[in-house]
Amino acid sequence: MVAPSGYDSPCGDCLLAPDHALLKDGLGFIAADLLRERCVCILLDRIATGDCSEPQELARAVDFLQRDLPLHLADEQEDLFPLMRRCCLPEDEIDRVISRLLLDHQQAGESAPEVLCVLAKVLQSAPLTLEAQQLLARFTSFARRHLILETAVILPIARLRLRDSDHQSLRLRMMQRRGLDTKTTWPHRRPSQAPPAGKR
Ligand SMILES: [Fe+2]
Repeated sequence: MVAPSGYDSPCGDCLLAPDHALLKDGLGFIAADLLRERCVCILLDRIATGDCSEPQELARAVDFLQRDLPLHLADEQEDLFPLMRRCCLPEDEIDRVISRLLLDHQQAGESAPEVLCVLAKVLQSAPLTLEAQQLLARFTSFARRHLILETAVILPIARLRLRDSDHQSLRLRMMQRRGLDTKTTWPHRRPSQAPPAGKR
């Protein structure tokens, strides 16, 4: 992920959409999305306290909620969770965890449009009402609980239980969802190496 020159986000580069090359590993891409959602929560907290009205940062939060969050929810609901239901062992009790996460997704899907309305008003320099502040606080509090469960429970179990064919299936489905050619290959690079400017 590369930030445009001259732009210095307090969250580093994590507000930018993940590099598509991360789709070599679907779970790695999902982990990057979770990190990004955590950064969006930090940004929404700052907006709620009047600490941020920077249009570029606001636009990145809008991009995430409008474009990338629905993709992320679909990655999990339509592909990762069904794969986990098939691969996990009874002692993982994955059905119970996934049922809880699906309810969270429903709530996130219902709340995101309200948060987007608040961000649109902030972008127009409208003052933030107490109700809007409370809405942002509820959204971030709820999102953080969800992120903890996915980061600490879902991803480690998925890494343990998914087979090579499951990883391949997840990766291809995520690429198709984003309109990418499934034959695309990316050169190997170390995590510390940034992609060329303009490439994602
Ligand atoms: Fe989720």
